[in-house]
Amino acid sequence: MAALNRKALVHADQEIGVIRPELHSHFAEHVGSCVYGGIWVGKNSPVPNVNGFRRAAVDYVRELGVPVLRWPGGCFADGYHWRDGIGPAAKRPKTVNKHWGGYTEDNSFGSHEFVEFCRLIGAEPYFAANVGSGSPEEMRDWIEYCNQPSGTTLAEERAANGSREPFNVRYWGVGNELWGCGGHFTAQRAAEEYRRFAACARTVGGLEPYLIGCGPDGNNVQWTRGFMDTLAGYHMDGYSMHFYSTGTLPPLQYTAEAMYAQLNSFPRLEQGIIQQRNLLDEHEPNRRIGLLLDEWGVWDRMTAEDEHRNGRLWQQGSMRSAVAAGLGLNIFNRQADKLSMCNIAQIVNVLQAVLITDGPEGRNCVRTTSYYAFMLFKPHRSKISVHVETDGSEQQTLPDLSLSASRQGGELVATLVNPRHDADMQVDCEVRGATPRQSRAEILYDPDINAHNSFEDPNRVVIRPHPVAFENGRIRVALPAMSVATVTLQVS
Ligand code: AHR
Repeated sequence: MAALNRKALVHADQEIGVIRPELHSHFAEHVGSCVYGGIWVGKNSPVPNVNGFRRAAVDYVRELGVPVLRWPGGCFADGYHWRDGIGPAAKRPKTVNKHWGGYTEDNSFGSHEFVEFCRLIGAEPYFAANVGSGSPEEMRDWIEYCNQPSGTTLAEERAANGSREPFNVRYWGVGNELWGCGGHFTAQRAAEEYRRFAACARTVGGLEPYLIGCGPDGNNVQWTRGFMDTLAGYHMDGYSMHFYSTGTLPPLQYTAEAMYAQLNSFPRLEQGIIQQRNLLDEHEPNRRIGLLLDEWGVWDRMTAEDEHRNGRLWQQGSMRSAVAAGLGLNIFNRQADKLSMCNIAQIVNVLQAVLITDGPEGRNCVRTTSYYAFMLFKPHRSKISVHVETDGSEQQTLPDLSLSASRQGGELVATLVNPRHDADMQVDCEVRGATPRQSRAEILYDPDINAHNSFEDPNRVVIRPHPVAFENGRIRVALPAMSVATVTLQVS
């Protein structure tokens, strides 16, 4: 194992912006076993549950803290008609999940169940409305059904269906991936659709909906130019881009080469955030349009066996995924002034999930490596991101030391990622603009890039305390190969 020395610098007095907790948000789609068999097992299930929600999943994600949860898709959203998912479950229509395998969707998990789950875990709901096969009136009625306190037929219908209290859903996506599964629109047509739908979406029950237009696949600048030109200053609260870090191998069979190819997408993600932000700023310099990255994460090669056993897009996480999460979350900290929300895809079982369960009949629920990576970033929430420098560069062929830091009052938090499988790093980090007084650190690491938490060994990769030294305004921390570490300093 090689030993590398790395220098880093934290400018504790050079502020970037608040790290909105929303940058640590999640996404739940009706695909594979994310909802059915993951979050939702049904009230009569032998799996321990709270009102039909898998108890272990509720407990784990509540502890993690999910600021916002996006639902019901994804591609599923543009085929979803919300009326199918309300009323007595036994009477709900059975439909076909056309995007994800053509299996029968019994609609037993609908708006009421989703909002109840959000309340159980303390998340704010984010609904993605149907543009591809829906209408502006359908979205308008969904907003009224959710948010009108009383006095209208839709509010009474919600009350009759079990919730006199309005759902108070603020975030509304106007379609999903309109350049693809959402309807194969051109950017110009997508912006026209946005205007048509947004014109119908009014403030209900005193709650102004936060409307999110459909942004590009990755950093497609043509899409954003076309969309924003056609929008022509029409009001839009948020604009969502999607960026997946695709990989070529099944989740637990990665080679170092394939891992580096995947991890090297992260500098492109950072570049994409900067460029998309600039494009929005050209059209609306006061930054009243929030930039969302409402789908991101590693997307590995699926195996037919995993998908057959556990559902579409089922993906186990590994130490590689945790490192990827660390690289992504460090970017969001560093670009905190440019982002309003980021949603990892997805919360349970699907893609870069924070929990996996063993399929619809299973009783097990395991916290993945990404769960713990997110935990290591929790102390950054609501702090002010500050400038950092590293001498390792993320721009070269091999990913190198990644760092972000944030401060609030007397607490300074820094997260460091060593994405190299073949090198330990000794990091010498100078802190300017504050004097460290006390320090502690926690680490997640495993030298095996394919190490993971399984039903047999659920605690293989977990957070452990880690030594950190400080002296004369510098901290010294050893970062083993494949590690994510958070250092918390009391500063004056
Ligand atoms: O997250 C899985 C899929 O990826 C979503 O349904 C879609 O929006 C994206 O292409």
